[in-house]
Amino acid sequence: DAAVKVALLGFGTVGSSVARVLAAQKFAGIELTHIFNRNVGRKRASDAAKAVSGSVKWTENVDEILRSDVDVVVELTGGLTPTESWIRKALSSGKSVVTANKQLIAYRGTGLARLAAQHGVYLVHGAAVAGGVPVIPGMLQGLGGDRVTRLSGILNGTCNYILSRMESGADYATVLADAQQLGYAEADPSADVDGYDARAKLCILSRIAMRAELDPDAVPTQTIATVEAVDFAYAKELNCTIRQISRAQLDGAVVHARVAPMLVPLASPLAWSHGTQNMVVTSGEFGGDVVFSGHGAGGEPTAVAVVSDLLAVAQGCRSVELPVRKRAVTSDFMAPHYLR
Ligand code: HSE
Repeated sequence: DAAVKVALLGFGTVGSSVARVLAAQKFAGIELTHIFNRNVGRKRASDAAKAVSGSVKWTENVDEILRSDVDVVVELTGGLTPTESWIRKALSSGKSVVTANKQLIAYRGTGLARLAAQHGVYLVHGAAVAGGVPVIPGMLQGLGGDRVTRLSGILNGTCNYILSRMESGADYATVLADAQQLGYAEADPSADVDGYDARAKLCILSRIAMRAELDPDAVPTQTIATVEAVDFAYAKELNCTIRQISRAQLDGAVVHARVAPMLVPLASPLAWSHGTQNMVVTSGEFGGDVVFSGHGAGGEPTAVAVVSDLLAVAQGCRSVELPVRKRAVTSDFMAPHYLR
């Protein structure tokens, strides 16, 4: 059989890790043929490019890839514009798309999934939530039979890294700078600390687990930037710690959702996550509670999710996306745990 030809859009932290994992694993039947990035000269000269075979075509022109005969486009550039138009073009021209783009999937996922279905190709986005933790494939394939009514998660590695180090006495500005340096934080770290990154992920999970289409802008979202050392001292007196928690609970036609720094009892698994660990706890009507946990940020864990999606596409397995319904969002349910 001919190999599945793959193009990478973006050769940053995650893109270069994907190239490295592909080179190390040498999966039969998958061939990296193109890499798109701005400033190809600089990228090609970088250490990260050493994993890339000499036969790969580097380009600064996306259209060259969209017009080519590649089978799968792996999008790791992020953002809504112009990325959405590239993905639309790829799907419409019969190419499957693997993406880690949480904002795009949170805002446009339903429409893009429809477009993929119309063209008989795959749109897979397991890397968009919780990096290397297979929450999305786990929910689609392993929990599709349940009726998930509640999910609580630690969905942003940067915030968890910051808060779990503050818990041990480190100060906010220092740990934020470390998170940026380690490549966990978004280009604009306010997306992390102000909760917009987690909010997008919460909307994606609600769509998959609860078939609820939420408007990310309607989800009440509070920054962790106001959490201070003294808050941890008070939390400790209450046998709690503080984490950025994303929660959604299905209540008839409404979903109660919120992203905020919250008090978490030390006995809760959510309090045990440190560093960039992400965790999602789901409650199902039939199957009860399930916990997913692992590295939620960083090049290699996220690359594992991307490459696993790629393998699934190459093998022709498409996760079944079930129909979603638009739901109103409120936040009334979690006042007791909400840190002001
Ligand atoms: N900035 C994100 C985080 C990267 O810290 O979780 C992974 O989505």
